[in-house]
Amino acid sequence: MVRMKMKKKIDIEIIDKKQIPQSEPERQYYFMDIAKNYVEQLAAKKGSPLTFHVTTFGCQMNARDSEKLVGILERIGYVETDTEEADFVIYNTCTVRENANNKVYGRLGVLQNYKKKNPHMLIGLCGCMMQETVVVEKLKESYRFVDLIFGTHNIYKFAELIVTAMESDSMTIDIWKDTDQIVEDLPVERKYSFKSGVNIMFGCNNFCSYCIVPYVRGRERSREPKEIIREIEQLVADGVVEVMLLGQNVNSYGKNLKEPVTFAQLLEEVEKIEGLERIRFMTSHPKDLSDELIEVMGRSKKICKHLHLPLQSGSSRILKIMNRRYDKEHYLELVDKIRAAVPDIALTTDIIVGFPGETEEDFEETMDVVRKVRYDSAFTFIYSKRTGTPAASMEEQVPEDVIKARFDRLLKEVQKISAEKAEALTGQTLPVLIEEQNEQDASLVTGRLSNNSVVHLPGTADMIGKILDVKLTECRGFYYLGERADGNGQTV
Ligand code: SAH
Ligand code: SF4
Ligand code: F3S
Repeated sequence: MVRMKMKKKIDIEIIDKKQIPQSEPERQYYFMDIAKNYVEQLAAKKGSPLTFHVTTFGCQMNARDSEKLVGILERIGYVETDTEEADFVIYNTCTVRENANNKVYGRLGVLQNYKKKNPHMLIGLCGCMMQETVVVEKLKESYRFVDLIFGTHNIYKFAELIVTAMESDSMTIDIWKDTDQIVEDLPVERKYSFKSGVNIMFGCNNFCSYCIVPYVRGRERSREPKEIIREIEQLVADGVVEVMLLGQNVNSYGKNLKEPVTFAQLLEEVEKIEGLERIRFMTSHPKDLSDELIEVMGRSKKICKHLHLPLQSGSSRILKIMNRRYDKEHYLELVDKIRAAVPDIALTTDIIVGFPGETEEDFEETMDVVRKVRYDSAFTFIYSKRTGTPAASMEEQVPEDVIKARFDRLLKEVQKISAEKAEALTGQTLPVLIEEQNEQDASLVTGRLSNNSVVHLPGTADMIGKILDVKLTECRGFYYLGERADGNGQTV
């Protein structure tokens, strides 16, 4: 750890540390107690509780990590606020595309102004972007007002790092290259009471040639099935009805455990948990999607009727250079098999436009897959060059205007198909998990179908967290309007 010694920055009475536990998670609970004492001292000086704000960029993994950060901050006495004008602001960053990084630099300028007004303020940065050496160098150079920087591998040490940052007068930086450690049983504060992400694995071993994730998230590590089951059982006891199992490639779950387990086997165990109603998972890599998984999905009562199956490109030639290890034909076969086993399943995908060397013919292959599969929805991305990945040094980067034109064509096609597909469910009555009160209209609540589509219906806050039968009365492109089918609601 780099720690530049000087006088401490915030005025606290430093606690003399004795007998720091060496094992985890005990060590972190010990530091939470110390941090709690410091937070109390600062709150007494300020005359009101200290506030925090966690801003999350990126994917579901980061969202889940942020819940762990919040869990610790609340435990040590900080109170959440919805503005970044807080006593502790932390950015949990993403670096999958260049624009994710630019957003962070832009917003740091605003935080610097808040910090000038508030002597108690601490600014922390963590997440994927911090695993890049160039980023940390830039922060050390031009963003000296940041107090704490750590990465993806040592997030479990957050309590200990807060104590270090509070006791130090300059930037505390702790970045690990990789880890084989998985620390269980730290505090977590869920954003939703009724649904939760559950990490089943960390890292990625696939090295798709455009992707930075394996470099910033490290090697693939699976959690023990019994730890996953125990966590879900606790969540269910605490009111959770839906879980989203998280991993960069859930289909290769369990391969490296001492006693190997397949993802399909894990799903069957999760299915047995009484009180759990819905199971989702993200993300499925086509190369590892097994017949066993398709079978389990076919007979499951709880696995949601939605599969996110990233295509990236429809051109077998480009897929090879992308190192995806499947081709167009294999992908289309998979789609047929899945639809045969689960006829009403919604399929969604990720597509990259403008990968180096992508020709008009390659792009047409992507359009062809889009037309053949008819995705319920698709996330489309413009290729972003990530330093250090093999694709970044490939010649033949596609000109921006060509990419833009292809992107627009793809988006139009994807949107047209999504709208047509959505229309098909209108008039049906289906179970909806009510998730929140509608932001624009408080007389409405918003929920999701098993296939992940959004539904708005008249309702009240007490419906949140319940699965109710809803008649889909109208389709508005990407969402539905509905009404309770049990006679307890009125039409929108
Ligand atoms: N593990 C998941 C994807 C995680 S990243 C999988 O393999 O499917 C989420 C999505 O970001 C990817 O599916 C890809 O479409 C997109 N992405 C990743 N790197 C990118 C890059 N360099 N430029 C543009 N999009 C990228
Ligand atoms: Fe990136 Fe490929 Fe790993 Fe997904 S599977 S995170 S796209 S390297
Ligand atoms: Fe971004 Fe890291 Fe997720 S780079 S997409 S937050 S794994």
